[in-house]
Amino acid sequence: MSYAAEYQRSLTDPEGFWAEQARELPWLEFPHTILDQDDNGSWRWFRGGKTNTCWLCVDRHVEEGRGNQVALIYDSPVTSEVREFTYRELQERVARVAGGLADLGVTKGDRVVVYMPMVPEAVIAMLACARLGAVHSVVFGGFAAPELASRIDDATPKVVLSASCGIEFSNVIAYKPLLDEAIVLADHKPAHVVMLQRDQLKAELSPGELDWAAWETSAKPSDWTSVGATDPLYILYTSGTTGKPKGVVRDNGGHAVALNYSMGAIYDMQPGEVFWAASDVGWVVGHSYIVYGPLMRGCTSVLFEGKPVRTPDAGAYWRVIEQHRVKSFFVAPTAFRAVKKEDPECALLQKYDISSLQYQFVAGERLDPPTYHWLQEHLGVPVIDHWWQTETGWSICANMAGLELMETRPGSPTVPVPGYDLRVVNEEGEELGPGAEGAVVIKEPLPPSAFPTIWGDHERFQRTYFQQYPGFYLTGDEGYRDEDGYVYIMGRMDDVINVAGHRLSTGQLEEAVAEHAAVAECAVVGIADPDKGQVPLGLVLLKDGANVSEAALQEELVALVRGAVGAFANFRRAVVVKRLPKTRSGKILRQVLRKMIDGQPYQVPSTIDDPGILPEIEAILRERSVL
Ligand code: COA
Ligand code: AMP
Repeated sequence: MSYAAEYQRSLTDPEGFWAEQARELPWLEFPHTILDQDDNGSWRWFRGGKTNTCWLCVDRHVEEGRGNQVALIYDSPVTSEVREFTYRELQERVARVAGGLADLGVTKGDRVVVYMPMVPEAVIAMLACARLGAVHSVVFGGFAAPELASRIDDATPKVVLSASCGIEFSNVIAYKPLLDEAIVLADHKPAHVVMLQRDQLKAELSPGELDWAAWETSAKPSDWTSVGATDPLYILYTSGTTGKPKGVVRDNGGHAVALNYSMGAIYDMQPGEVFWAASDVGWVVGHSYIVYGPLMRGCTSVLFEGKPVRTPDAGAYWRVIEQHRVKSFFVAPTAFRAVKKEDPECALLQKYDISSLQYQFVAGERLDPPTYHWLQEHLGVPVIDHWWQTETGWSICANMAGLELMETRPGSPTVPVPGYDLRVVNEEGEELGPGAEGAVVIKEPLPPSAFPTIWGDHERFQRTYFQQYPGFYLTGDEGYRDEDGYVYIMGRMDDVINVAGHRLSTGQLEEAVAEHAAVAECAVVGIADPDKGQVPLGLVLLKDGANVSEAALQEELVALVRGAVGAFANFRRAVVVKRLPKTRSGKILRQVLRKMIDGQPYQVPSTIDDPGILPEIEAILRERSVL
């Protein structure tokens, strides 16, 4: 079927279309209702369906004869280790860890926080939770203690699974002190902590804390349990416009059906083929395309603990593709910018045979045309940008390689994926024609896998995403379509910034900066960066009488943000200003600041308190070479 026909069908007959996709997977009980709305008014897929995501990803492949196929390849240049797990070996480990969790009292619906680096046990932990019907919440290992604490408070886990350390290039990062601090900071105290001891650094366990190896070995394997299609599989926190992260809830049934569809229709993957997403299990890309998508499809998934460069060099990616015969590779453009910076002519590629590679997928941030052209020139395979969000769990726009590979265009993630009725609208909600930039929204209902709520805060879900344009989901991104319907995503319209493919809220960073004793007020905005895409810049107003130099202040603020949010926020720059532009009611005009810093034309809003502030700030930013 062509893309156009499939897309049309998904919009005119969504229930028929998705029922067909649902039949591509086995069910314990097939859903009695394909689509309806719950008591909150949220659209729900596959009500009445009974399944288990761990069974779908692991056990049923063993039952179907894939037991000896490699399910997971752990490739870790930072520890000089490569380890393979067949589906049967994965099943044994997952069943035992699930048994260990059950011994700690974890049952269906209980939450388990996973704060781990890129080790196989992180994947095993996620699948073990799914096996019991428990809800995992994976927290990216780069998050500092306060961020971990706020997630522990929101998810109220019974158990935290962690590891003694992560490895960043050659730096060993101790996790235990961060976890200890988070537990002190959090109001909720998890009943149990289980610690995976890594050879690079052993953690000293506190009384009552469990050693992973002993805990797993002594556990009795646990079977999977039947869960409802609409039961939650996981909570994944993502940045919103305020400092408080939003717990995106993912269900079991819709997620399974959408990911299984995407593996074939978008990534063109067949069972037994090797898929590699070089992200982190702490992000949605890691959830969907390191763990659940490839395993759901019976593929082999690569879990890479390393970086694009210096592990050991800028040929790291090519080495992995060759060694594991990767067919589809998925990574954020920022990673390729790092490779390009070190190896502009891509000379290291000549050392490797990457003929297994058929597609290069990129996402997480806008694929800038220079990186697109560099990849096209050197890889000799289709370079496919695709656009998606934690909220959806899979692509909103893509070039559907498994359905009908279309021409790629620089700067565009191609076309809306079946299931997404995408519109570009102005502030009044009127649909805009080709070339006109506006808010990108999706008409309800969103397809399977899209989140039905925010954990513990349904009001925030409705207010943030559905209030501005009733009946439409507000993506928060702006963009346009060209004459042929290709979509272009230009950036966020809200206070979310994208730093090296990491989504961060400026509010979250502002809260950290405001902790400094000399800071009266601050605004954090994203500025363009050739490597990271965007990096945060702090505009800081000092308290009267504060006696600190800008250089010293900057150093202290950098340390504060690293300690409060994490080093990956790349907060490195702060500029002292005399005043911040505000409305008469005292709200900082962030959008104006954003546009000024981006060098875009901006209108001075009529609500501004004092228009003289804008040229004053521009002058300071020019003097500091920010503009
Ligand atoms: N744990 C601890 N620290 C971490 C970390 C982690 N998991 N991840 C990053 N950091 C630290 C880095 O060590 C660095 O510290 P430093 O300031 O002391 O040197 C800092 O955070 C900046 O990190 P980053 O900007 O990520 O640079 P990097 O060189 O470590 O990694 C990339 C570069 C491209 C590999 C990485 O940014 C990346 O993978 N981005 C894509 C993210 C992604 O997958 N998004 C999802 C969409 S695909
Ligand atoms: P996350 O939820 O962390 O995956 O981040 C989602 C946000 O990243 C989106 O709202 C976009 O702003 C940005 N993003 C992701 N993929 C792309 C892409 N292919 N092109 C442009 N922006 C992207």
